[in-house]
Amino acid sequence: MTILSIESSCDETSAAVIRDGKILSNIISSQWMHQQFGGVVPELSARAHLRWITEITDAAIQQSNLKKSDLEAVAVTYGPGLMGPLLVGVNFAKSFAFSLNLPVIPVNHIESHLYANFLDGKQPELPFTGLIVSGGHTLLVRVDPSFSYQILGQTRDDAAGEAFDKIAKMLGLGYPGGPKIDQLAKSGHLTAFEFPRPMIHSGDYDFSFSGLKTAVKIFLKENRELASARLPDVCASVQAAIVDVLVAKTLQAARKNQTQDIVIAGGVSANSALRKAFCELEKTGKYRVFLPPPVLSTDNAAMVGLLANLKSKVLPLLPHTELSPVPNLAI
Ligand code: KG4
Ligand code: ZN
Repeated sequence: MTILSIESSCDETSAAVIRDGKILSNIISSQWMHQQFGGVVPELSARAHLRWITEITDAAIQQSNLKKSDLEAVAVTYGPGLMGPLLVGVNFAKSFAFSLNLPVIPVNHIESHLYANFLDGKQPELPFTGLIVSGGHTLLVRVDPSFSYQILGQTRDDAAGEAFDKIAKMLGLGYPGGPKIDQLAKSGHLTAFEFPRPMIHSGDYDFSFSGLKTAVKIFLKENRELASARLPDVCASVQAAIVDVLVAKTLQAARKNQTQDIVIAGGVSANSALRKAFCELEKTGKYRVFLPPPVLSTDNAAMVGLLANLKSKVLPLLPHTELSPVPNLAI
């Protein structure tokens, strides 16, 4: 199956070509103009998707060395995400499919993040425990055959990526803050300052990051000069607090699920401290840990196509005139 996939749920316009589960091309255009506003402005994002989606799709097809006539289906992210940006991608995908008389495969964005780990070579075995950490979601799921998902826990307030972004904003680092905290933390000490690990011993699989945000806010109010002088130490300490909670809860979930395979996904899976912590866990020999390559951690169309390819093998394809997706991940 040769699939053109489209992703436009937030601030990345992306198109990819996937053939039989292999990524032939994956073009990602990030919208940097949101930096000046400290967060994504949905209307600007939708307009930028509209401006670039045709060219990015053409580039993806060209880079795959295939022709439009080689395509057999169009996959597209239908949600969750920002409404305007999603509408651009979905309507583009439907029109493109209509023009070539191809079926459309609707894809859930959060679900697709997991499938950035389904690459050539080592692949997760079902059932597995999945941790999805993005700008809008933090979920622990048990993944069973037939795309069946049991949500074990999720954040009660801010998502992990949102906590990174909001704390970075307080530190004056700009948007998106996750990569900036990650970078600065590399030269800091993770035990320099003590920040809370919210809900780490709660006994369930839920998360909460708003208390950590408040703790950092109070710390900054009382120690502004110290924080500016030791910014890398603050970043490393904040990052350690987030990573400790994510790793501890994931481990608890894997024990409950009795699964050996742990799959990490979403933008925060690019975080170097999180990756290091999960690699250490794998070294114990008790678990196999799957982390997407950093370029497939954040939003991209390749993961959409990889999931669509697997789904196309077992689920009926929708004609392009119909796009009434039945979400199988209730988010
Ligand atoms: O999955 P994603 O690209 O978009 C959503 O679906 O939300 O995730 C974006 C989030 C942002 O909050 C961003 O700050 C965070 O992922 N992120 C990181 C890193 N790279 C991206 N957080 C921590 N460390 C990183 N290296
Ligand atoms: Zn995402």
